[in-house]
Amino acid sequence: MKILVTSALPYANGDIHLGHLAGCYLPADIYVRYQKSRKRDCIHICGTDEHGVPIIIAALEKKCSPKEVIDYYYERIKKAFEDFGIIFDNFSRTSLPLHHKISQDFFLKIYQDGYIYKKEMSQFYCESCQLFLADRYIYGICPFCHNQKARGDQCELCGRWLEPFQLISPKCKICNSSPIEKKTFHYFFALSRLQEKLREWLSTKDFWKDNVKKFSLGLLNQGLEDRAISRDLPWGVRIPLEEAKDKVLYVWFDAPIGYISSTVEWAEKNNKGDLWKEYWLNSDTRLIHFIGKDNIIFHALIWPAMLIAHGDYILPYNIPANEFLNLEGRKLSTSENWAVWLIDYLKEFPPDMLRYTLAVNLPETNDIDFTWKDFQTKVNNELADILGNFVNRVLLFIKRSLKGKIPEDLELDNKVLETIKEIKTKVENLIENFEIKNGIKELMKLPSFGNQYFDHEAPWQTLKSNFKKCEKTITNCLILIKSIEVLFRPYLPFTCEKIRNFLNLKKFEWDDVLEKEFLLSKPILKEVEILFNKIPEEKIELQLKKLKGGKMEITIEDFKKLDLRVGRVLNCERVKGSDKLLVLEIDIGKELRQIVAGIGNTYEPKDLIGKNVIVICNLQPAKIKGIESNGMLLAVGEERAIAILTTDKDVPPGSIVR
Ligand code: MF3
Ligand code: ZN
Repeated sequence: MKILVTSALPYANGDIHLGHLAGCYLPADIYVRYQKSRKRDCIHICGTDEHGVPIIIAALEKKCSPKEVIDYYYERIKKAFEDFGIIFDNFSRTSLPLHHKISQDFFLKIYQDGYIYKKEMSQFYCESCQLFLADRYIYGICPFCHNQKARGDQCELCGRWLEPFQLISPKCKICNSSPIEKKTFHYFFALSRLQEKLREWLSTKDFWKDNVKKFSLGLLNQGLEDRAISRDLPWGVRIPLEEAKDKVLYVWFDAPIGYISSTVEWAEKNNKGDLWKEYWLNSDTRLIHFIGKDNIIFHALIWPAMLIAHGDYILPYNIPANEFLNLEGRKLSTSENWAVWLIDYLKEFPPDMLRYTLAVNLPETNDIDFTWKDFQTKVNNELADILGNFVNRVLLFIKRSLKGKIPEDLELDNKVLETIKEIKTKVENLIENFEIKNGIKELMKLPSFGNQYFDHEAPWQTLKSNFKKCEKTITNCLILIKSIEVLFRPYLPFTCEKIRNFLNLKKFEWDDVLEKEFLLSKPILKEVEILFNKIPEEKIELQLKKLKGGKMEITIEDFKKLDLRVGRVLNCERVKGSDKLLVLEIDIGKELRQIVAGIGNTYEPKDLIGKNVIVICNLQPAKIKGIESNGMLLAVGEERAIAILTTDKDVPPGSIVR
């Protein structure tokens, strides 16, 4: 049996963050390292996803070409994975000619077999960006709840699914101009025709994780609609038909084919030409896709449907999708920069500290919150106090009390052997079952046991009273350390390498864990250093500050510096020559204030007269478009005001807000 493991191809328009790692790359890496250590024929395939609107938008924003964007991020992503110890047998790119060719052939085959058909339609087109706009790149007013910023595919306020043409005054999200309707045509993938086959295939997957199974079946039961798999974009894999010269494949059509092309590239690089076929064309291969939950629909339905339509390749065996990782109680958001970037992390801490904290907290069955405080606790109380402590105390004992001489005694304690064996078997079952999180929890029992054993045997006492026994204790501790080195290696490869170096150990594999001859090979104790340094409070505070984008915590005294009061609008007019600005005359109790506010897009002057507003009275005066403004009124909204703050009961002007 062969095992072909893939991790979702990350978009080459941004860096890797902790959410990505917890979602798929770390569990996939642990799984593959484990399989390889068991000497199974297992490869890990990945690469960057380099097409699609997100790449084009990134290029527009940075005022460069898509090619420059993907080249930049490909290198950064690849390097970050390497530094974090994520090993791929191949890390490819979907912009390679090889991938384009394989994707085009894939398209042609299912097109010729009748699974793809052409359909006329009209679509929004932005003349200033010269781009057909994907649903998400259009916003406008929701026809149902009048949310001003509903997306072309969904209104996030009332939750309704929308068609872009339903939006009132639709706008291009990139440049804010009004798009026009333009006729075009697209190629549709006949998903509806593959439904029954998909159902049949899914019904053999009762061993999948619950979340993945339920989600896929739910979607299938709602019925699958045919989907457009072409786009009118200047960037992507060209559709290989004369009639469609300006069209490219939808990114979600070509990206998963990247799993195949990356495997082909791997075989070519290793001069093994057709070796990829032994994976993709071999029913004895288990194809396993590690992904995050937002990708389930593509991997559990659309991609298998593509594979069924094509007919040559194997289908996924399992799709162990993870839920989301939240950060400090909030959903991760790259656009709001609410994320911890791997590159930044690696500048501050060693990889294994994060590999451990994420592994014991993987969002396998539900969303999980990552907090820096918890990171610190796990590193200090678990890695340092349990694992590090055990290894370091044994080695230091040898160094100080045994003068560095490792006992040549092979008498092993049954209890020690049984413990190792039992934990090893449990971990095997857990990892095989994709319970990566429980695997590391189980493994931590080894150093815990080691510490208890060391305490109980008290070698510092037997050193004088019964030297033979003292040596035996240390021998057993060494066997434990060796088993830790081997069994923890998939999770903590850098730490285990250190342990090997301390003892000059050879690299044993999974099933050699109980082999004890190594003790006869006279391992020597080399320089020993602390395995895990505890993380001080300041370092954690620094991370928290960074995360909040320099927005410092303030005290109640700081807040009291604001003179916030209720004001009543007596008069209001538009500022000439501006849609946005209004000039208001406001009664704040003892005095009248003139304030200029950027709420003219949302409010008509007459609607504001008589209203209560909340005013910051001690703001430095400013001139806006030449008009004096004395204070500021509070409103909701980032670029444009959506609503102003008022009081829910009538209170006299000048009332203090606190
Ligand atoms: N680029 C996608 C994402 O980050 C994942 C692509 S996975 C593959 O969400 F199937 F296309 F490879
Ligand atoms: Zn535009």
